[in-house]
Amino acid sequence: MATTSKVEQIVDWVDERTGVKAAMDEALNEPIRGGARWAYVFGSALLFLFALQVVTGIAMSLYYVPTADHAHASVAYIQKAVPGGALLRGIHHYASSAMIIVAILHLAQTFLYGAYKQKRELVWVIGVVMLLIILGFGFTGYLLTWDQAAYFGTKVGTSIAGEIPVVGSIQQKIMLGGTDLTTVTLSRFFTTHVFLLPLTLALLAGLHVLLFRKAGPAGPYHTRDDKKIDRFFPRQVFMDSVAMLVVFITLVYLALKMPAELGPVADPSSDYLARPPWYFMPLFQLLKYFPGSLVIIPTAILPMIIFGALFLLPFLDRKAERNPFKRPIASLTLILVLAGAGGLIYLAKYQDRNNPEFAEKLKKQEEEMHLFFKEPFKPQVIGAGVTAAGAPASAATGAAPAAYIESCGDCHGSNGQGDPDLGPPLLGMQSKPRRSKEDLLKILDDARAYDLKKPMPASFPDLSAEDKQAIVEWMLKLK
Ligand code: HEC
Repeated sequence: MATTSKVEQIVDWVDERTGVKAAMDEALNEPIRGGARWAYVFGSALLFLFALQVVTGIAMSLYYVPTADHAHASVAYIQKAVPGGALLRGIHHYASSAMIIVAILHLAQTFLYGAYKQKRELVWVIGVVMLLIILGFGFTGYLLTWDQAAYFGTKVGTSIAGEIPVVGSIQQKIMLGGTDLTTVTLSRFFTTHVFLLPLTLALLAGLHVLLFRKAGPAGPYHTRDDKKIDRFFPRQVFMDSVAMLVVFITLVYLALKMPAELGPVADPSSDYLARPPWYFMPLFQLLKYFPGSLVIIPTAILPMIIFGALFLLPFLDRKAERNPFKRPIASLTLILVLAGAGGLIYLAKYQDRNNPEFAEKLKKQEEEMHLFFKEPFKPQVIGAGVTAAGAPASAATGAAPAAYIESCGDCHGSNGQGDPDLGPPLLGMQSKPRRSKEDLLKILDDARAYDLKKPMPASFPDLSAEDKQAIVEWMLKLK
């Protein structure tokens, strides 16, 4: 008994100074017209997903390094070496898609129930802004891994943004921090992803909930069962909690069953075939139908129409009717837009599968990604290691590193010119481009994995990491 009263005393002490009891009371006893419903869980699920992203994001940022030199290695480290890192990254990865899906469901539910009507215009408008921010999270987060898919996907994405008339090129320059995708770009995307967008989203989400609470839930669209009133607690709280649990279990399941992928580090000189994440696929597919100057239709006009209509919706549609069955145009438009987007995603995948050239290239890229993914984590060899091996001196004179002469020169020639009987020339590695730096380093660890036949040795156990690095640096310079 004594402890209860002690606890009560503390609660009372805090309450006297904060008014926390009244606030809780108001939060939990919010009346819900027409009773609690499963249809209302999406908002809470979104809030939960956002919180999850903040937590997993902060945890990953304890390891992540936002520079072109180290970003990829630090992500590989999180994925392959940090205990629980793969799970953390997997949850963050799938939750980003989940946020977009749940946001669309939330928007669709509000739209169908006509819940943007009756003094809820601002709640709706803020919601649409938040949808744009969520897409911004996807776009900026995609680059952070700095693997091939991230680099080339973002390159295509930013150049599409650059095609928008008038504002396009300046907007692209601001995004890139120059004219090309560099470490400055990565800094900008990182800052946007972890500071600007989360801050804005948190503020808007607070405002969204505040204004929503002020207007009160719209309730069911047919006013008949208006009289039935639940409080937020317990039934709606229960339903919301179940929704959050389902979301969380699904994310953990996906993260464990299908780990978030990570390919080899970005190699700007390669000819990687870029494909956007699913939520930008509809735009990607539309671009194919509008060549040349028509490109402004999918990049600028269509998004402006869609988001313009979304923003203006509560001001244009002033009728009191909320029943979706009595608003056939609204309901049909929603179905058409969603089906259209789905159809475009399907078409994009279908065309990739049935274009032999693309299908083969995409398959090869996928295999390279799996190969890298399965490899155990290898610590990054930093420039200092190369210096220690004396590479800069030989690189400056163009002479082969000593380790090369010793281990490779007999077969590939003292200057990489090759030997007719023993080994092919090693000239022009990058110009064709034939082999990336990553590939060459891997060849020295396992030549058979690259289908290189004898007498090329399968590996070079006598060479140190610095030696290999120096040899590869030198090979890349051969013309
Ligand atoms: C015993 C002879 C021999 C030695 C020693 C040798 N190689 Fe090779 N290497 C070959 C042969 C033969 C091939 C072609 C294999 C094939 O195409 O299946 C080859 C292929 C290669 C390739 C692929 C070339 C291409 O076409 O892309 C690279 C890169 C390479 N070697 C690098 C090296 C390096 C670096 C060393 C030293 C650390 C080395 N090799 C040592 C015989 C040798």
